[in-house]
Amino acid sequence: MNNKNQIDRITRRKFLQTGATFAASAMLTGFGASKIFGAANDSVDTTSKYVTLNNGIIMPILGFGTLYLTGSVGEKCVSDAISVGYRLIDTATIYNNEDAVGAGIKLSGIDRKELFVTSKVWVDDSGYEKTKVAFETSLEKLGLDYLDLYLIHRPRGDVKGSWKAMEELYKENKIRAIGVSNFEPNHLIELISDSEIRPAVNQIEAHAYFQQPVDYEYLNQSNVQMQAWSPFAQGRNGHFTDQTLAEIGKKHNKTNAQVSLRWHYQRGIVTIPRTSQKAHMIENLDIFDFEINESDMNTISKLDLNTTQFPEWE
Ligand SMILES: NC(=O)c1ccc[n+]([C@@H]2O[C@H](COP(=O)([O-])OP(=O)(O)OC[C@H]3O[C@@H](n4cnc5c(N)ncnc54)[C@H](OP(=O)(O)O)[C@@H]3O)[C@@H](O)[C@H]2O)c1
Repeated sequence: MNNKNQIDRITRRKFLQTGATFAASAMLTGFGASKIFGAANDSVDTTSKYVTLNNGIIMPILGFGTLYLTGSVGEKCVSDAISVGYRLIDTATIYNNEDAVGAGIKLSGIDRKELFVTSKVWVDDSGYEKTKVAFETSLEKLGLDYLDLYLIHRPRGDVKGSWKAMEELYKENKIRAIGVSNFEPNHLIELISDSEIRPAVNQIEAHAYFQQPVDYEYLNQSNVQMQAWSPFAQGRNGHFTDQTLAEIGKKHNKTNAQVSLRWHYQRGIVTIPRTSQKAHMIENLDIFDFEINESDMNTISKLDLNTTQFPEWE
């Protein structure tokens, strides 16, 4: 670990311990902002809309999810998302929309270097050879010549073969960071113990009703960035009308969606909310001008039901 990363991790731990606060001033666009996670005490605010991954790559802390956004709708949503300020776009082979995401990026007219694009290798393509082919297919569909982040979508099949392929692609500068998704600590321990490159990210289900405290702790200690999928639980369990979130939101004139995203943000977790509506895209980005106090953070932690809201995906 280089010095900068070591400092980032130490200050990040302090941030987690002190429940220190953020105030936003950095622009979400561009990668110029430095990461200043953490504060020595509660009176010092810190500012960042980015996290620094364990290989030094800077990643936006709030991105755009694209599950179910396919075809021309997907293309328009991605283009709209970029136009309102999103710079991290999350897709996957299994979403069957990499072509739409690529078209949306093209339509937006943005400079590729300003974006952070993630895709994932699906279970059917696990293993060394298949992962190499799947990666090239993803690039082709996206119309890109590199990915910022490539993840193993689920810990199934020949994970080690896939990882070896991804390590090679990373060394060839075709991917800026490699990681995993839906890995439990035991899966990660096994992968890390037998591989050259440590995963930079683990993208897992995380929202108010499934907070994953053990994984959160483990990932922080292991220098693997936690990224939350379905940060609103897709609205399940009454998320958007949840009275606890609404009461907290009322204090800041914010919606349940904004409270959830802000709660993740204050815990240092990267989120990728999905929406098909431009107004929601703008609303979901507007979380950098308020702060949930420690007492309300604790209140949200009590919403945890400690079980997935997506049993059909287990
Ligand atoms: N790695 C994995 O295994 C995995 C699994 C699932 C998801 N993911 C990723 O995580 C992303 C996010 O998760 P998700 O798509 O499952 O669900 P989500 O982001 O938790 O929720 C999406 C739903 O919330 C609604 N919504 C968004 N913003 C809103 C707002 N401000 N007010 C009210 N409703 C709002 C959307 O409806 P509208 O369109 O009407 O706004 C949509 O129905 C995915 O798109 C995907 O990129 C990864």
